[in-house]
Amino acid sequence: METFTIEGGKPLSGSLRVHGAKNAALPILAAAVLAEGQFHIYDVPHLKDIEVMLRILTELGATTSHHEGAVSLDTSSISITHVPDDLMGQMRSSIFLMGPLLARLGEVTISRPGGCAIGERRIDLHLSGLSSLGASIHESEGYITFRADRLIGNNIFLTFPSVGATENIMMAAVLAKGTTKILNAAREPEIVDLQNFLNAMGARIRGAGSDTIEIDGVDRLRPVTYRVIPDRIVTGTHLLAAGLTNGHIELTNTMPEHLTALIQLVQSCGVEINTHHDIMEIKAHNRSRAIERIITSPYPGFPTDLQAQMMVFLSKAEGTSVIKETVFEGRFKHVNELARMGASIYVDLGSAFIRGVDHLQGTTVEATDLRAGAALVLAGLAAEGTTYVEQVHHIDRGYERIERQLQQLGANISRLDL
Ligand code: UD1
Repeated sequence: METFTIEGGKPLSGSLRVHGAKNAALPILAAAVLAEGQFHIYDVPHLKDIEVMLRILTELGATTSHHEGAVSLDTSSISITHVPDDLMGQMRSSIFLMGPLLARLGEVTISRPGGCAIGERRIDLHLSGLSSLGASIHESEGYITFRADRLIGNNIFLTFPSVGATENIMMAAVLAKGTTKILNAAREPEIVDLQNFLNAMGARIRGAGSDTIEIDGVDRLRPVTYRVIPDRIVTGTHLLAAGLTNGHIELTNTMPEHLTALIQLVQSCGVEINTHHDIMEIKAHNRSRAIERIITSPYPGFPTDLQAQMMVFLSKAEGTSVIKETVFEGRFKHVNELARMGASIYVDLGSAFIRGVDHLQGTTVEATDLRAGAALVLAGLAAEGTTYVEQVHHIDRGYERIERQLQQLGANISRLDL
């Protein structure tokens, strides 16, 4: 079991290049199934979930390599339509393979997906979306099989702008006959990145980034070379870490326009943030001020994936803040752990009421999921004394060796294998 040891209280300083976005790279790797041939994809982070995706692609018949952020992928020999159960169970994002495999091979079988323990995480919108494109769906004994000789374009309204469902439908619809319109589509930057990747392959998609995406089906796609966008959640995590520790850091390879909601809120707390092209400079001098109300919501709203880290930031701010979580119901697991470090947080009806305290105290805490785990690392950086964060494998799902990134910013953090 690996654990982080953190000696807190040191302001972060220095410069760090942010790695590529996990949530953009995962659907892009799955989308490569749609064409036959050799892909080169850059800025793919070295993370557990990416490793699982590459292993699944290998088991489906592709050849893959991943070296210093560059993935080489030959999809010519993909012929297997059953996503391996053990790998499916390890990562929810395996569901991204439903759309592409169905579109390329006319059939796909999956077992119900696994993943982070942050709520129910249904897949009904993925299923109804693929069914609207003409796929037949059979479910028995925990397996779901989709079949369609050729998918047919349709108008699909999503009752919630699900990121994954929007992406799965896009990937299925690119090779469908006719036009598909996704209404109430998710608008996340990772969806724009997927559109750009697919269009580079020869797809005809427009509208990603807005709530209506239109896809004119084409007969064939071709392999491409592509670079993934920077990870806005990793950027936001370091931004908050600098604010929390009264640090002064520079982040490169960022897209500040993807973090407008976060940047405005953190600036309103008194943290100085300057942006110049892909560079962000974050400087904090004094104790931050509280924020009256934050509501997590689909993009461009405040991201649920930064809710836990924001809560830590506010746990030391002056005054009382409120965060309402509306995207995932199970996403306050960090609260009990933060309370053990001296934070004063009360949760009621999906809202957390955070009364800022003067200091946090290091102790042993447990990462329960990816972002909750990152939040505990931030708490450790700001706490007095030593913090031990257990179960760091959750954090490794979304941050490429976070301890090395933070060491580069001067933090006193190390990984222990106990
Ligand atoms: C993606 C991100 C994840 C982020 C989330 C919300 C990836 C790989 N993961 O997850 O980091 O936290 O967006 O920004 O990109 N829902 C349904 N039915 C469905 C699908 C979703 O009811 O078929 C609900 C979910 O239960 C949840 C909400 O929609 O309450 C948001 O889920 P969704 O946008 O689909 O998130 P993911 O794509 O799973």
